Order: sequence, then structure tokens, then C-alpha cells
Amino acid sequence: MSHQTVIVLDFGGQYNQLIARRVRECGVYCEVKPYTTSLDAIRAMDPIGIIFTGGPNSVYDPASPQVDPAIFEMGLPILGICYGCQLIAHNLGGRVVAATEDSAREYGKTETYFDTDCRLFKGLPAQGITWMSHGDYMEKVPEGFALVAHSDACPNVAICDEARGFYGVQYHPEVNHTENGTGMIRNFLYEVCGAKGDWTMGDYKDTAIRAIREKVGGGKVLLALSGGVDSSVAAALVAEAVGSQLTCVFVDHGLMRLNEGDEVEAAFAKWDINFVRADAEALFLGKLAGVTDPERKRKIIGEEFIRVFEAEAKKIGQVDYLVQGTIYPDVIESGAGNAAVIKSHHNVGGLPDYVDFKEIIEPLRMLFKDEVRQLGRELGLPEYLVMRQPFPGPGLAIRVIGDITKEKLDTLRLADFIFRDEIAKAHLEGTMNQYFAVLTNMRSVGVMGDGRTYDYTLALRSVTTTDFMTADWTRIPYEVLDRVSVRIVNEVPNINRIVYDITSKPPATIEWE
Ligand code: XMP
Repeated sequence: MSHQTVIVLDFGGQYNQLIARRVRECGVYCEVKPYTTSLDAIRAMDPIGIIFTGGPNSVYDPASPQVDPAIFEMGLPILGICYGCQLIAHNLGGRVVAATEDSAREYGKTETYFDTDCRLFKGLPAQGITWMSHGDYMEKVPEGFALVAHSDACPNVAICDEARGFYGVQYHPEVNHTENGTGMIRNFLYEVCGAKGDWTMGDYKDTAIRAIREKVGGGKVLLALSGGVDSSVAAALVAEAVGSQLTCVFVDHGLMRLNEGDEVEAAFAKWDINFVRADAEALFLGKLAGVTDPERKRKIIGEEFIRVFEAEAKKIGQVDYLVQGTIYPDVIESGAGNAAVIKSHHNVGGLPDYVDFKEIIEPLRMLFKDEVRQLGRELGLPEYLVMRQPFPGPGLAIRVIGDITKEKLDTLRLADFIFRDEIAKAHLEGTMNQYFAVLTNMRSVGVMGDGRTYDYTLALRSVTTTDFMTADWTRIPYEVLDRVSVRIVNEVPNINRIVYDITSKPPATIEWE
């Protein structure tokens, strides 16, 4: 690997991925590694600096995650954040204690004062808000360290030993609530570690293409294209590398949003790949006819998907490589980072069992979602694909409540399109992470012109979330909701009532089924 690397040593804090994302946003490559990573392994990565993350423990607790003290002898700059800061203090002769007085325990936004002579704060304002979340307190600062930030309640907010390049901050510079937090991380990287800023998506693209060509040689490559961001960007990257050897199988189950199938096909027209669009609408709708149970719907769609994919794969004969669109958060969550946050993750559940191949290629394995989108742009994928919101595998089948028919799907497709169209016109996409329409199976009485109607109720759903595990319903302005409502009842047949879902997750889930 040709680019400089920073190691983010993971002590189990909740913002660890965010730290890594900030570093990369600053143009520096980094990897999240568990705190148990050996010094030899660290050395082998030849990093230019190390960041200790926060964590839920107390450094003075014998059971807390620790580092090999020799890490401080490696001659590498270290930035410790929250727990990481206390770890530096604890190891180098300072003293960390539980904050007994409320004044020393700090949570939330805190006015903080900085010594801008310190390289960490160079060129930044001398005062600003920081985001604190710590119950422990650095009672004694280690020998050789200077105090370089304080708050009204706490004299020891940041410490530094400029000579050795060790910095510790009690607050979280990686979260948006901390003013100039990214500037501080940037200073650590550029002023202290000597970063050159050699991590760009353009370079990554070229390197990844070379690596894929080298690995694949003359082999045949297969990819299941869902039309989502990750599989699309993975497909574009492999297409750019070994286009003529690549087959993309796009199973069109007829459960996509309006025009989505055609959009996906159009986006790949420029590459000389074997693009297979398996038109399986009739098959899927036949299997789903009369099925109302959400889990049955999921199961049927999952099974049929595999069957269609398998049939298409068989047509191309022996495959050497299967491409998967796994991205870095999946890798970190499945335990490559801190062992404490293991969550099993299957990106394309089941596929490898059904298709015979030599090896899996995961070309997005080290990228965050925003980097994947950036790479997609570099590869010339259209914005509608690159910015696509998450869409469930079973598609609109779990957004038509109760039994599914082609007519209901068409009704939902049009209503969903109008909702998205009005959100785009109001420039509100940035305030929500997933938004869609749901066709309920409830009908109610309405009046249109002089006549009585008895039609379906459509629900609108929009959530704001970072991880999709919890979510808040989006506060869409009433005027926008009104425009959506008026347009849908006027333009979409069979709908005479619109409701907006104002439940968060939990207790509700994002999807209705
Ligand atoms: P829920 O409804 O569980 O959704 O709050 C969380 C996120 O997962 C998506 N989702 C699915 N994705 N297959 C998928 O690939 C599924 O069966 C499925 N169900 C929900 C949902 O759209 C949201 O982003």
C-alpha cells in the first residue's frame, strides 16, 4: 500500500468509526484496530501516528483495556481521546480518578479555552464548544506534559507533550458538536504526524483497479447487482478493471421503485460487461399471490432470488470470483475492530452456498459509505445511483401491507415517486436518511367531487438516523407534507387518505413489515 496510514486503536467507544471517518475526510488513510493489536502488527503497518479512542471503562480498573507501555517508546505521535487521553496520563505517571464532584464530571456541550501555541490548536479559535462525556478526571497530569485546554469546571481538558508528540483531549473532537473538532484532528495529522494528504478516491480507484486486474487475471467474475449503492459501485469498479470478464446479474423482481430497473440498466450501459437483467416479475408476483405474512414474503423473495440468480449463473459456466459489496462498517462491526462489539453480518446472505466459485472479492471492504459514494462518482456513476437511499432486499413487497398485486404495486410506486419528488424539490434530502410511502390495506370513506369514495390509505414514512438501529421520525415541514398529500390524492388513483407516521424506532421499526 502506497499511502500513509494512521492507526485508530479501538477501546470500545461509541464514536470510533466517526474518528476514522474524520481522519479519512482529512485526506489521510486510517484503519480501526482492536486495542489488543500487537506492537509488531502495528509496526508492520508502518503508521505515521496512532489515535487512542474513547471507551466505556475506567483506566484505573484492573480489568480495563490497556496498551503495552512500549507503545510510548515507538517514536510515533499519539492522540488520546477521552478514555485514550486518560490512558496516556495513567501510563506516563499521571493519575486518573473517578470524578466525585459533579463539577469534574462533564457531559454535553462545554465552553472550552485552548492554548493556540499548542500544535493541536494551531490556527484555531482560542475558545469554543466541546462535547464532553466523561465520569473520570485527570487529577494529576503526567511529568513533561503541559495543560493546553480548560473549561470553567475542569482545569485539565487537554494535555500535550510536544517533544514526543503526545496529545490527550478529554472531549470528543470527532463529533459535530465540538466546534473545530475536525480542525484539531487535521492539526494532529498534518502538524504533528507530518501527513501529506495522500488519501484520495481518485488514487484509491487506480490502486483498486490494478489490484483487481492482478488478482483476477483472465478469470471469470460474477456479481449480484441489487441496484443499491454498494453493489453498484463494486460493479462499476470491477467493470472498469476487467469489464469483459464480468457478468452482473440484476434480478428484476418487479418490486422496485418507479423506473429503478431501467435506471440501473442505463447506468451500466457504458461498460463492456455482460449485463443480465433477469425479468422475473411474473415469477415473483405469482409466488407472492395471496401471501400476507411479512416473514413469508421475505422468505419467498429470498428463495426465489437465489433460484433466479443461480439459473443465470449456470448459464455462464464456471465462475472464478464472486464480488461482494461489503463495506468497512460491516467489517468493523463483525469483529475485526474491538471484540466487544461483535455482530454477525451477511451482506448477500446465502449466495456463496449456491454458486460454485474459487474466491470472494470485496473491493469496498476498507471504505466508509461516503467514500463508496465518492468512488462511485469517480467511476462516473450517475448521482441517482450514488446517492440512493437504503432500500430493503424484499423491496416494495414489505411496503404493500397484506396481499400484493401488480395494481397495488403500481399505485404505491407512483405515490412513492411523488413523495420523493416533492422532498427533492424542497431540498430536504439531507435532513432524512430514508423516506418512502407504504400502501396500507385499510380503506376508508372519502368524498371527491360530489361522489363517495372508498379507497386506500397511504402512509408516508421518513426517518433520521445514523445507524438504522434506532431512528427518529423526521420533522417534515407541514407545507411540504401538504403538497405531497394534495398531489398524491389528485394524481394517484385508489388513494383517498394520507397519514404521516410519527413513531420513532424503537418502538416502531423503520419498515412497516
Ligand atoms: P427496520 O424496518 O428493521 O429496518 O427498522 C432497518 C433498515 O433495514 C432495512 N430492511 C431490510 N433490508 N432486507 C434488507 O436488505 C430486509 O428484509 C429488510 N428489512 C428492513 C430497512 O429498509 C432499514 O433501512
